[in-house]
Amino acid sequence: MAYTPPYPKPLDRTSKRSLWNLFKRGRRSWLATLYEGSYSGKMSRVRLPGVQLFLVKWPDLIKEVLVDKYQKFPKHELSETALKPLLGESIFTTNGPVWERQRRMLDPAFGQAKLKEVFTLMRGGADAMIQRMDAVEDGGIADIEIEMTHVTADIILRTILSESLEGEGARKIFHAFNLFQEKATVIIQLSFFRLPLWLAPRHYMIWKRTGKEIRELLAVSIRGRHEAYQRGEKSDYKDILQSLLETRDPEDGSAYTLVELVDQVAMLFLAGHETSASALSWSLFLLSKCPEIQERLHEETCALLGDREPEFKDIPRHRQIRNVFRETMRIYPPVGFLTFRKATGGQKLQKHDLPDGSPIVISPWLVHRHRELWDRPDEFDPDRFEGGLDQPGCAYIPFGQGPRICIGAAFAMQEAMLILASLTRRYRFEPGPGPDPEPTSRLTIRSLDGISLRVWKRPKVKHEQTVPDDAEIEPEAPAKCPFH
Ligand code: HEM
Repeated sequence: MAYTPPYPKPLDRTSKRSLWNLFKRGRRSWLATLYEGSYSGKMSRVRLPGVQLFLVKWPDLIKEVLVDKYQKFPKHELSETALKPLLGESIFTTNGPVWERQRRMLDPAFGQAKLKEVFTLMRGGADAMIQRMDAVEDGGIADIEIEMTHVTADIILRTILSESLEGEGARKIFHAFNLFQEKATVIIQLSFFRLPLWLAPRHYMIWKRTGKEIRELLAVSIRGRHEAYQRGEKSDYKDILQSLLETRDPEDGSAYTLVELVDQVAMLFLAGHETSASALSWSLFLLSKCPEIQERLHEETCALLGDREPEFKDIPRHRQIRNVFRETMRIYPPVGFLTFRKATGGQKLQKHDLPDGSPIVISPWLVHRHRELWDRPDEFDPDRFEGGLDQPGCAYIPFGQGPRICIGAAFAMQEAMLILASLTRRYRFEPGPGPDPEPTSRLTIRSLDGISLRVWKRPKVKHEQTVPDDAEIEPEAPAKCPFH
C-alpha cells in the first residue's frame, strides 16, 4: 500500500492571518506558514508591512524567472545578509559579472573528469561511515541525522581539502558550522520581517563570531597549499582545492586569490554537506517505512556488485536507488525555498506587474506537492521516476534550474548513490521508537527532533554478482527539454 510520509498539515482559510501569528509560526518553521491554497494556482502575492513578495509556483513562470530572464531576476540582498559573515563574496549570493567569473572558474572542479578523480576520496568517507555503523549494536538505535551529517561533512572535507573529520581542525570546523547555521536561521527570519538584527543580540554575536572562526580555520588549511602552489612546488593532491588552485579565468587568465579561495571553500562546505545530509536522512527514514522498497534496493546492490567494492562506473547502474533518492528529494526537497530573487526592469509575470525590488519566492517544497502538477502529490512512490517524468522540468527542481542550477548536483547524486548502496547492502533499517519525525524548514528541510532508526545487520553471506560489469545499461529517459 502506498505510504504518505509526515508533513505539516496546511492551514485552512479560517486560520489567523495576523503578522504576529505568521511570525510565530515562521519562527518554528516556514512550512508552518503555508495554507492549503499555497499548494495550488500559478502565482500569489503576499503583503507584509512595507513589502509585497510574490510566490511563483507554475513551471512556465518559474522558467521565466530562473531560465529565460534570469538576469532580470538576480539573487536578492535578503539572501546575502545571513550568509555573508561566513561566505563573503561567494558564488551562492553574487550576481552579474562577479557571479559569471566565479561560475566559469568553479565549473571545471565539478565536471565528470573531476568526479571520477574524487570517487576514491568519497569512498574513503563511506568506508569510515560503515565502521561507525558497525559499532552500533545489532538492533540498536542510530541517530541517523547526526550520522548523515557526519559522513557528508567528512566526504566534503576529503574531496575538497583531502582532510578527514577525524582531524582536530576538521572537528572544530564541523561544530562551528552547526552553530553558525542555527544562528543564521534566526538572522534570516529577522531580515525577512525587516527587523533590526540587534533584536537578538546573543544570536547575532555568535553568528558573527562563528562565521569569522570558520573562515580562519579554513584559511589555515588553504594558506599552506596556496603558498606552496605559488612557489611552484609539485603536489599529488587530487582534490577540489587542487582544481581551484590550478584554474584560470578563461577570459582574463586570472587565478583565485587566497580570500576568494576561502570564500569558495566555505561555501562549498556549507552547500555541499547540509543539503546531502538532509536528503540522505529522509531517504533512510522513508526506506525504514517501506520495507519492500528497501529489499529491492538491497537486492539490486547485491546483484550489481556481489561482494566487491563499488567503483565509479557502478554509479549509474543503481537505478532503484536513484529513483528512491529522486523521490525523496521531491517529497522532502533539501532546499525548501530557493534563495529569493529580485524583480528588476519593470517585469510582469502572469497578471502581476512586479515593482522593482520585489522579492520573488520559488519553493521546491510547494512545487513538488502542487495539487495540479502531481498525481498523489503527498505519497512516496519512487517508481514515478521510472522511464522519466511526464511533468515539465520546472515542476521538479530540487537542484534549482537554469544557469544557476546547483553546481554540485552530479557530485551529490554520486555521493548519495554510494552511501545508500553501502548502507542498504549491509543493514536493514526500521523506524525507531517514538513518533515520526516532523519536517521543519531551517537552512534545509530537516526534522524537528532528529531521525532515529533501528539498525539490523544483515547476515554475512556470500553474494554472487549476477549482473555482469559489461551488461548494457538502459540509458536514462531523456529529459523532455533541459530547461523547460
Ligand atoms: C542533495 C544535495 C543538494 C541539493 C538538493 C542542492 C540544491 C541546490 C539548489 C536548489 C541550488 C540553487 C539555489 C537557487 O537557485 O537559489 C543550489 C546551488 C548551488 N549548490 Fe547545491 N545542492 C546540493 C548539493 C550540493 C553540493 C554537493 C555542492 C558542492 C559541493 C553544491 C554547491 C552548490 C553551489 C556552488 C550552488 C550555487 C550555484 C550558482 O549560484 O551558480 N550543492 N544547490
